[in-house]
Amino acid sequence: MRQYQIAVIVGSLRRESYNRNLATAIVKLAPPEFSFTQVQISDLPPYNQDDDENQAASVRRMKAEIQAADGILIVTPEYNRSIPGILKNVLDHGSRPYGQNVWAGKPAGILGASPGNTGTAMAQQHLRNILSALDVPTQGQPEAYIQVREGLFDESGDIGEASRPFLQKWMNHYAAWVKRHAT
Ligand code: FNR
Repeated sequence: MRQYQIAVIVGSLRRESYNRNLATAIVKLAPPEFSFTQVQISDLPPYNQDDDENQAASVRRMKAEIQAADGILIVTPEYNRSIPGILKNVLDHGSRPYGQNVWAGKPAGILGASPGNTGTAMAQQHLRNILSALDVPTQGQPEAYIQVREGLFDESGDIGEASRPFLQKWMNHYAAWVKRHAT
């Protein structure tokens, strides 16, 4: 059976990040032919177009990981009603030099968690705008605007019972989306 390797990007560097915990927990709901690796983005320099012909080793490593992946999964907080700067930075790095956009065609799913009751909805809408410019086929439904509440995770850090049916449904749609669009 074909295997699918997914590059996971978490838009938070915080040690106890809810979004990193969500990214770690939700991949356990994926079918067995899927494997997931979180991409390191903390060592990327701020994007500078002057460096396009001489990209840092960390940028080249990140781009190689995206190129090798069959799909991407982005799990992000919302910062000031948009995406965090570190997430925009990795997206910009991967899009350049002009004509060498590593994101193009990679099927994507997006998720986000916030203690606030809009559950990263604004950030995700901004992210969809960016992914469209990057030619990334992004899963539309179901949308997942996760509010962090007691019980989202169980004692082991897995998705809690109450949230599991919805997030399992989300993952089933994501897996089907990747299979439909992976080259
Ligand atoms: C936030 N937070 C936040 N939450 C939200 O729902 N909408 C928002 O616009 C913002 N804006 C915002 C800006 C900045 C600079 C910070 C640091 C935080 C709160 C945010 O949801 C909360 O800190 C989460 O815990 C961040 O996600 P991680 O790091 O836990 O994954």
